[in-house]
Amino acid sequence: MSQKIAGPKGMNDILPGEVEVWQHVERTARELFSRFGYGEVRTPTVEDTALFVRSVGEETDIVGKEMYTFEDKGGRSLSLRPEGTAPAARAYIEHSVVNQEPLTRWFYMGPMFRYERMKTGRYRQFHQIGAEAYGSKEPAQDVEIMDLVVQLLQTLGLKDVSLNINSLGDETCRPAYQEKLVGHLRAHVDELCADCKVRLERNPLRVLDCKVERCQQIALAAPSILESLCEPCREHFASVQRKMGALGIKFEINHRIMRGLDYYTRTTFEFIAAHPVLGTASTVGGGGRYDKLVKSLGGPDVPAVGVGLGLDRLCLLLRESGQRFGQPAQLFIAVADEGSADEALALASRLRREGLRVELDTRGGSLKSQMKRADKVGATYTLVLGELERTSGQAQLKPMAGGEPVPVKLAELAQTLHAAKPAA
Ligand code: HAM
Repeated sequence: MSQKIAGPKGMNDILPGEVEVWQHVERTARELFSRFGYGEVRTPTVEDTALFVRSVGEETDIVGKEMYTFEDKGGRSLSLRPEGTAPAARAYIEHSVVNQEPLTRWFYMGPMFRYERMKTGRYRQFHQIGAEAYGSKEPAQDVEIMDLVVQLLQTLGLKDVSLNINSLGDETCRPAYQEKLVGHLRAHVDELCADCKVRLERNPLRVLDCKVERCQQIALAAPSILESLCEPCREHFASVQRKMGALGIKFEINHRIMRGLDYYTRTTFEFIAAHPVLGTASTVGGGGRYDKLVKSLGGPDVPAVGVGLGLDRLCLLLRESGQRFGQPAQLFIAVADEGSADEALALASRLRREGLRVELDTRGGSLKSQMKRADKVGATYTLVLGELERTSGQAQLKPMAGGEPVPVKLAELAQTLHAAKPAA
């Protein structure tokens, strides 16, 4: 026997039955993004490796340990995208979008890749829904992005998600904080892991998101960045909070939201779900402001703010909610005798042209087995087509949820089904 080949580790197949939740979240997000004026951008799944090294940062776990990097046949170093902000910024610069409009709102959905240690809610291929707004340095833009997520979670019916916000300051006040942080870390240098010893020299902020237990304890005792903010950053953060309050959005200030990517300035935030299904992978989304990224990638000096949501995690939560997604067949046509098979096929074809979801079992088989199939697909009605129905043009519509069969003329079947209530 030939040996079976398994799918890549940490990468999931999403089959019918499960995909309906995904489609529901994607549809809901698209509808909401359009209300907020965000247009969809689609970028390649791979990018020049340097794009992520320069934006996400060399000392981050994402770039340092988790990227799928390879050389193409032309000797270029490419990486599967580990996130969507840098590719979107690259496209924004490459197409000189700033010359077409001063304020740009984009969203994207798609697979991202990180070679992570897998567990529930953490995969090597995962999916993000992201939104990025370029061109506004105002706190109102930070708030709009967070409001977008709040409204998405509400529309999806996801409760028990808390919002943590922080400010990482800017190039004026960050160095002073960094100095304080280095002071704290140096006092514990012997206890830090080998990676963090390097980070301490090259990018001390990244010590704060190390996953090693001992480093995390040292990070817990680190000074708060909020105490080091300069006046403009302090005012920006205060204004974000006032505006969030005015919209009735609840949040907590958490000075530990460092985000694990280098490009952030000022506001950062994370949406954290309390549900046990996610285990420790409880962050369903995160983002923040990155006012210097576009310029640092060779683009114009354009401020930006954005968010990335973990679609896999949102779907895990939604599946737990017990809601049903997807649309079952409105009608299942069962064939009573072989002589009716062609007519059943033609009837199904005609009804589908008229916009109805119709199934029949192309294998034929006994009426009993066909009814079993009707039950399995969750059809709202069944109709048995045999010689009597064909010659009389009349049939019985049987509600699968129970109740009396309804007599129907075959010629009026589409109208009747269109008028019928969907299954409860
Ligand atoms: P991030 O926090 O790295 O941010 O990822 C955003 C979200 O993607 C996370 O909150 C999480 O829900 C999900 N996620 C991340 N890694 C995995 C994984 N291995 N498996 C499953 N889900 C995962 C970013 O990527 C930024 N680009 C967000 C952003 C947009 N900031 C500004 N604009």
